Amino acid sequence: MSWFPTPVRLSRHCGRLVVVPLLVLGLVVYLLVPTTRIENALRQLYLEHGQYRHPQETLPPPVTPSAASGTLAKPADICALRFGNDYLRSFSRTATRYCDAGSSADLTCFSHKLDDKKTDSFCLGGPASLETTQKRIELDCTIRDWAEDDFSRNVPQFRDFPLYWYNTGPRAIFNQHIKLQRIAQAATTPSADAKGFSLLVQREDNHQNLWHSMMEIMSLTLSLDVLRTTINTKTGKPFFTHDDIKQSRVVFLDKLPNGPYFDLWSIFAGKLPMRIQDMSAMDLATTNILVPLPGSSNPFWQGDWLDLHCGESTLLKLFSNRVLDFYNEFDTTTAVQRPPTLTLIDRKEKRRLLNKELYFEALQKKHPEVNMRMVDYAALSLSEQIHISHTTDILIGVHGAGLTHGIFLPPNSTLVEIQPPSLKHKGFHNMAEALGHRYFTCHGSEHEIPQGNGDWQHDDVFLEETAFMEIMDKAIASMAG
Ligand SMILES: *[C@@H]1O[C@H](CO)[C@@H](O)[C@H](O)[C@H]1NC(C)=O
Repeated sequence: MSWFPTPVRLSRHCGRLVVVPLLVLGLVVYLLVPTTRIENALRQLYLEHGQYRHPQETLPPPVTPSAASGTLAKPADICALRFGNDYLRSFSRTATRYCDAGSSADLTCFSHKLDDKKTDSFCLGGPASLETTQKRIELDCTIRDWAEDDFSRNVPQFRDFPLYWYNTGPRAIFNQHIKLQRIAQAATTPSADAKGFSLLVQREDNHQNLWHSMMEIMSLTLSLDVLRTTINTKTGKPFFTHDDIKQSRVVFLDKLPNGPYFDLWSIFAGKLPMRIQDMSAMDLATTNILVPLPGSSNPFWQGDWLDLHCGESTLLKLFSNRVLDFYNEFDTTTAVQRPPTLTLIDRKEKRRLLNKELYFEALQKKHPEVNMRMVDYAALSLSEQIHISHTTDILIGVHGAGLTHGIFLPPNSTLVEIQPPSLKHKGFHNMAEALGHRYFTCHGSEHEIPQGNGDWQHDDVFLEETAFMEIMDKAIASMAG
C-alpha cells in the first residue's frame, strides 16, 4: 500500500539485477574516491529506485485529511500518538489552509497536541520567491480569519504558534525569514509551476550534540512523513512524493558552522544543501517551502524522566534504518555469526568514568570470548561512528549524548547506561525500549571526584570495580538469551 516500492519487490524481482552491479561499482568507487563522494554514488540508488536496502518502510498508506479524522483507532493510546503511526495521522487530520481567498500562494499547516503544554505545527507553502537584498522569502498570502469550523477542529491560529528553545520552530522561522504579504507581480507566476521543496532548516546552537541533532533531523523526516501520508485534496496526490525528493534541497537559515551532522540533513533532499545567504532568486524560484517541526517538538523528548513503557516505536526504528542506509550500513551479520562485540564509550570531557582503563582491562581478561573496544566517538566522523555502533552488540557509556548511538545498534542489542549518583534520567531507557534493545543501568557511587564541583553534568563518575563487573556480566550474559 505504500507508494514506495516494497523492498521484496525490488530485491527479489527486478531490483537485484540493477542493485548488485551498482553495489560492486559502488565498492570500486569506494576504493578510489573520498568517502563523501561514495555516499553520493550509493545514494543515487535511492534517488533512482526509491529504495534503501533496509526493508522497513513502515509508513501507513496516504489518507485524505477528512478521512483521516476517522482513522485513529485508539484515540486514548498515548504511546501510539507519540511514537507510532498515529502520531503522523494526527497531523494529517488537521491539514488546514491558512491564506485567504485573495492570496495566490497556499500555506497549509498541520498540527498535533502531544501533551498539555504545546500544540506543535509545521507548514508547507508556495509558490515562494526570494527577496534578494534581505534574503527574505516571500509568499503572496494574507492569513485568513478563523471561522467556526477551525475553532471546533481545534486548529491553532497562525499567531498562536509557540516558540521553541534556541529560537527554532515555525514561529521563529516565519518571524525572521518569511514575509507573508500581498505581492503585486505574484499573480503572473502560475502556482502550478511550483517544483521541488526548499526545506527550511534553522538549527539549534546545540548542533554539535548528537542527541539534539538526531532529534532535529528526525523531526524534519517526521514532517515529510506526514506530507507523504496525507493526500492533497487539490491534486489528489500526497503532498510530498518520492519524486519530490530529487527536486528538493535543504536551505539552512542559521549561520552555524556545518558541524558533524551537516550531510545527514539532506537525507530526503536530492539537491545539494545551500545557506540562505548564498541563494539567488533563481535558486528559490517557484519552489514550495517546508517549515518543518523543530527538534524540541520531537516525541522522543517526551517522558525523559518517566518510564514510559511504550514498547517498540515504528517511528524510531524507521528513522534508525534510514540513517543506517544513508551511511551505507547494511551489515546483516548478527551476534550469532560473529563474536559478540562490546563498545565502551570513552568520553574525553566531563562525566568520564574513573579508572576506566583498569576496568576495561579486567573485563577483557574475564571475558576473552567477547570482542571489546573503547572508543572516543568524538574523534570520528559520523559515518565512522555509525559503523562502529552498527557492529556493536553491547554499548556502554556514562549518561550522555553518546548513548544516542543506541539508535544505530543492530536489532536486539544491549545498552548499558552508567548514571551519575543521583540522576534518574529515563530517556535512554525509553529509547532502548522503543528500539527493542535490552537495557541495564546502574548509578555511580558517592565518591571524592578529582576536580569535581558537585554538578552532575560536569563531574566524572566513580563506580566500584565490583559494581562495574556485575553489570557487565549481566549485559554479556543477556546476549546469550
Ligand atoms: C534476541 O537475543 C536474545 C539473546 O541472545 C535471543 O534469545 C532472542 O532470540 C533474540 N531475539 C530475536 C528476535 O532475535
